[in-house]
Amino acid sequence: MENIKQYVQENKERFLNELIDLLKIPSVSADSAYAHDVMTTAEEVKRRLEEAGCGTVELCETPGYPIVYGEKIVDKDLPTVLVYGHYDVQPPDPVDLWTSPPFEPVIKATEIHPEGAIFARGACDDKGQMYMHVKAFEYMMKNNTLPCNVKFMIEGEEEVGSKSLGWFVEQNQEKLANDVILISDTGMISNTQPSITTGLRGLSYVEVEVTGPNRDLHSGLYGGAVANPINILAKMIASLHDENNHITIPGFYDKVEELSAEERAEMAKAPFSLENYKRALAIEDVYGETGYVTNERNSIRPTLDVNGIWGGYTGEGAKTVIPSKAYAKISMRLVPNQDWEEITELFTKHFESIAPKAVKVKVTPHHGGQGYVTPIDSIGYQAASKAYTDSFGIVPIPVRSGGSIPIVALFEKELKSKTIMMGFGLDSDAIHSPNEHFGVFNYLKGIETIPLFYKYFAELSTK
Ligand code: BES
Ligand code: MN
Ligand code: MN
Repeated sequence: MENIKQYVQENKERFLNELIDLLKIPSVSADSAYAHDVMTTAEEVKRRLEEAGCGTVELCETPGYPIVYGEKIVDKDLPTVLVYGHYDVQPPDPVDLWTSPPFEPVIKATEIHPEGAIFARGACDDKGQMYMHVKAFEYMMKNNTLPCNVKFMIEGEEEVGSKSLGWFVEQNQEKLANDVILISDTGMISNTQPSITTGLRGLSYVEVEVTGPNRDLHSGLYGGAVANPINILAKMIASLHDENNHITIPGFYDKVEELSAEERAEMAKAPFSLENYKRALAIEDVYGETGYVTNERNSIRPTLDVNGIWGGYTGEGAKTVIPSKAYAKISMRLVPNQDWEEITELFTKHFESIAPKAVKVKVTPHHGGQGYVTPIDSIGYQAASKAYTDSFGIVPIPVRSGGSIPIVALFEKELKSKTIMMGFGLDSDAIHSPNEHFGVFNYLKGIETIPLFYKYFAELSTK
């Protein structure tokens, strides 16, 4: 029988076209205007899994969007891999900044992807990466080389906090029982230096509302005499960091685990060019917490960022007004051991306490989740490491990512299994941004690497 490399080469065009068709459906979970498309995508993923050879595939109803669940049990004595991914995508806006429409996928070459990249919302996060698993599974089924049982769990609410999935996992521990969880929803260092994500940050996301006077006021008649909620909000936000860019919320760092000098030295070995980093973002300098380098600031350290701020008059021309209200959306990225609910509470208390009497403050939590670190001495990590070593010819480096997949910590709690994150995207793939893309090389390499993971995981499990 032909090997995986050959199979990928022979089926390359079809693999690309199938992904392109999936990317045409705008499955934006955050906006109810797309609800029908999100449902269509779920059905489409179900059909694709069936076609790939997954015997039983169901759309599991939830209070929100359905979870596509499929399984192929070869032999109950073999180890079971649970594959998780998501079929929903981020909103495409700002749409004008896309060089081609977000839901009309095209393949274009870039400096980093000279062999071409698929441009579309969801190309990398996560339709492209999720679909690699479906195609890798197709290969193993066709070749009769599936060495493990497989369970697929593909959700449609990852980008809005995975509420329904949390509920589903708690209800279905037995159904979801597995030996390892495999996810491709992260990135790697570069196409010449693969890496395996060993950590994710947690998240606490809140919205704040500051209210001054009971109505918008003439800024001449009242200006200077009453609190302007926008001025106050700006001041309050500015006070959340000190001159060293440390977060000033009391207790915020209490549970943060400091890495040893050894661990930090290990991290510093990963290839990184500050010059390229700055050039790619068109910035003169980086900015962050004193005492930590860029790769630490964006992975092992917690942060607080305003994601959006609004209020008052923003239309054309000038309107002289003191607004009644000001708002901001704030995210805090957390590290393992920080509890997101506790942090949300600390934030709320602190934010209320720093507000002057002249305004009222309301804090509304949106969603959150715990951070995660996976050990590198597990069978799962070793299987992944061997798989990359075979397909890239280079040993992958373990890297802690700054992003969040909050459900991963819940998987560990409810299903008692470790998650292995085999991501094939690059930071430059612009996930969540205009012009998101996924390298054709990365997509095909992913399909090639995944069956090797199964092979090594089965081998190592029986030792
Ligand atoms: N796939 C990303 C997370 C990610 C990307 C982790 C790259 C590591 C490297 C995921 O879809 C995502 O965007 N997560 C959100 C959190 C969610 C609760 C909205 C995030 O990190 O902002
Ligand atoms: Mn994702
Ligand atoms: Mn995302």
